[in-house]
Amino acid sequence: METTKVKRDSFTTGLGVIAATLGSAVGLGNIWKFPALTGLNGGAAFIIIYLLSTLMAGLPIMISELLLGRRSKSDALTTFRVLYPKRESWALIGAAGVVSAFLILAFYTEVAGWVVAYVFKALSGNILSSDPKVTGAAFERLITDPYQSILWQCVVLVYVGIIIILGVSKGIESTTKKLMPVLFLILVLIGIRNLTLPGAAAGLNFLFHPDFSKVTGAVVLTAMGLAFFKLSVGMGTMITYGSYFRDDQNIPMTAVRVMLADLTVSILAGIAIFPAVFTYGFKPEAGPSLLFITIPAVFSQMPFGRVFVVAFFVLGAIAATGAMLSIMEVPVAYLHQRFGVSRVKATVLTVVLLALIGSTAALSNSVLANFKVFGMTMFDLYDFLTSNLLMPLGGLFICIFVGWVWGKEKVAAVLSNDGALHNSAVISIFLFIVRYVAPVTILVILLRGLKII
Ligand code: PFF
Repeated sequence: METTKVKRDSFTTGLGVIAATLGSAVGLGNIWKFPALTGLNGGAAFIIIYLLSTLMAGLPIMISELLLGRRSKSDALTTFRVLYPKRESWALIGAAGVVSAFLILAFYTEVAGWVVAYVFKALSGNILSSDPKVTGAAFERLITDPYQSILWQCVVLVYVGIIIILGVSKGIESTTKKLMPVLFLILVLIGIRNLTLPGAAAGLNFLFHPDFSKVTGAVVLTAMGLAFFKLSVGMGTMITYGSYFRDDQNIPMTAVRVMLADLTVSILAGIAIFPAVFTYGFKPEAGPSLLFITIPAVFSQMPFGRVFVVAFFVLGAIAATGAMLSIMEVPVAYLHQRFGVSRVKATVLTVVLLALIGSTAALSNSVLANFKVFGMTMFDLYDFLTSNLLMPLGGLFICIFVGWVWGKEKVAAVLSNDGALHNSAVISIFLFIVRYVAPVTILVILLRGLKII
């Protein structure tokens, strides 16, 4: 096994670990995916399925990944070679993770680019109008303009690249430690403002009223895909972050805290959006149009509207930052450790590659609008492939590796911080879920969602 030895940076404090890991989980998913998907797919019914997927698959995989990373102190790919040198093919999980990282960032940096563009456009008053036709046209202008699309994506890539170059502790940890409290503050302020609007009850009803008639196999797969996407699992991000964890960090506790805080952010985001949408008589649409067309139109009708629109997109930019840092760290850590190239070189290479792959997503509303694979634009294809296929499959194999291949004693040793934590009940429950519950859940949902069974 030829791995290059490089000096490794790591997270320095317990708080830093939480900030960085939560920073990875919290992202555009909370604002752009969770509220809209929940509203459209049965409200509380969808939240219940999402929660079950989180408990039965997302959370145990998050714990598994963190355990693997902390033990190997290596990147997502090398981890499997270090922990199980007998069979190199397990490293394919890590390789698939690196591929997923590129595919996710390809479309994620584009949405983040629009968010950053909107901070500036809102500041200058450019996109403010109570008429969704006007805000719709403004959004259309942005996304169909190939130059602007590429430009904002590159701005985001360079910005994330610079923080990555600063390093794990001085870049990722210190940035997320500063940004997370600001994110909560903005979210709570917008949420409170929303709850005092006349449409608050209708908004909350849309979000929380359980409607099981909307639940189909595809909806369950969407909920599970969201659970994976939200917790950043199934593609080696948490393996990479786990490798920067301190040896005395309580991994299950950290994962549970991050999961709960992330869920809180998602629900708060719903509360920050839907009451206003209903107050001003808008339709709660999904995806980009909710964020970029409805929100500016709705928020600009509130007193101090411009402030709220700016605050909302700053919130989006902050959320996206921690998530993008964690995704970009996957290939950078791999290139740095495996080939011994400096962090700067690894990051520059990653950013350049991403600018190339990402441009196919950035141009999917203009030059490449008619270029479709399986009926999807590149943007939608990357999104679908990662959330609904690569991440669940990655998660499945991670469960199999941790539950059946790596060895019970080894799992128990890392989980208990080499005996320092007396958590034998936690170990038994965890092993049971990872060996049986999670793989079966993932497999059944995946096959049904893809209409294979
Ligand atoms: N969890 C992030 C979000 O909800 O926006 C997205 C994400 C981050 C996905 C990191 C995957 C990942 F590895």
